[in-house]
Amino acid sequence: MNLDLPQQSTALAKQAADELGAAQDKAELARIKSSYLGRNGSIAALLRAIPGLPSEQRRDAGRAVNEAKKSVEVLFMERQEALRGAALSRASQVPVDPTLPGRRDWHGHSHPVTQAWDEICDIFSSMGYSIQEGPEVETDWHCFEALNIPQGHPAREMQDTFYIEEKVVLRTHTSPVQVRSMLSLDPPMRVICPGVVYRRDNDLTHTPMFHQVEGLVVDDRVTMADLKGTLSEFARAFFGPGTKVRFRPSYFPFTEPSAEVDVSCVFCKGEGAGCRVCKDTGWLEVLGAGMVDPAVFAEVGRPEYDPDKVQGFAFGMGIDRLAMLRYGIGDLRMLFENDVRLLEQF
Ligand code: FA5
Ligand code: MG
Repeated sequence: MNLDLPQQSTALAKQAADELGAAQDKAELARIKSSYLGRNGSIAALLRAIPGLPSEQRRDAGRAVNEAKKSVEVLFMERQEALRGAALSRASQVPVDPTLPGRRDWHGHSHPVTQAWDEICDIFSSMGYSIQEGPEVETDWHCFEALNIPQGHPAREMQDTFYIEEKVVLRTHTSPVQVRSMLSLDPPMRVICPGVVYRRDNDLTHTPMFHQVEGLVVDDRVTMADLKGTLSEFARAFFGPGTKVRFRPSYFPFTEPSAEVDVSCVFCKGEGAGCRVCKDTGWLEVLGAGMVDPAVFAEVGRPEYDPDKVQGFAFGMGIDRLAMLRYGIGDLRMLFENDVRLLEQF
């Protein structure tokens, strides 16, 4: 039966021409193409039969099969062009409404925490603050000792620390950048220090990695009234004029007196009762602050920061908390799950 390989080739080409001519769309065309020209297609089968022929027949058979192959390829291309042309002319008959809005590309944007970070920096820059940064892996001295938190001080337990080595930690707050700034800059100074910090914390309003902005102002006469005015002004700029802010007496080893600042809870509108986010209080703590303790100036040890000559105030705010309140996100941890369905809403 291999004797009629040339005949079979011609028949196959004819059959392919009929099938391709009847094909109505791309998918059908592709299916027919592969049934002839594919690795397991009928042309390949004919080619595989050639070596089994008596040698004097091989040349003619080979030529016939190759011709059939070429003709199927050409027919396929022609039909493909014809179908494409038909589709184009159909499309050109569909009426176009030029007043329809265009289709918009999907655009990425910065993370809500980055947006809050940038906005906080803008607000303080406009008040004349400059920006300082420091390392996330910090020495025990910068993170604790210099801030009046000696070894064994109970305040170390206020912030559950990740240790790298005995005297090297992942910074638990941005306050070490206060110390670094005083070591490198002279008063009068006004700096903010945004950055990443780490603590062993995890619930609706606490994550193990979060962001703070430290603020430090040092001059020969700075008062608690300046601190209150600055933070109230900031809260109005960030949350809008209607926001309620309260100052609560608090304790930090590096400030005296100290305060914590709460913003009215956006989830229960300050109602409190039954609110999981503010734990029934109607308020969410966003920052700690106070007048720089003279012991910190003394520990910095530079004559420019003589505790008898300079005064200062400092604050440290949680950027993620501020973003959470600003954008109404009920669980801080969601900010770091990177689910675009959440992130693209901001
Ligand atoms: C401090 O970290 C002090 N260094 C702040 C400070 C600076 C006080 C300068 C005085 C002078 P505290 O631990 O309260 O304080 O944290 C400050 C803010 O960080 C909190 O108000 C809160 O907004 C945020 N915060 C604290 N822990 C977490 C956490 N695990 N996840 C998210 N935000 C947090
Ligand atoms: Mg606190």
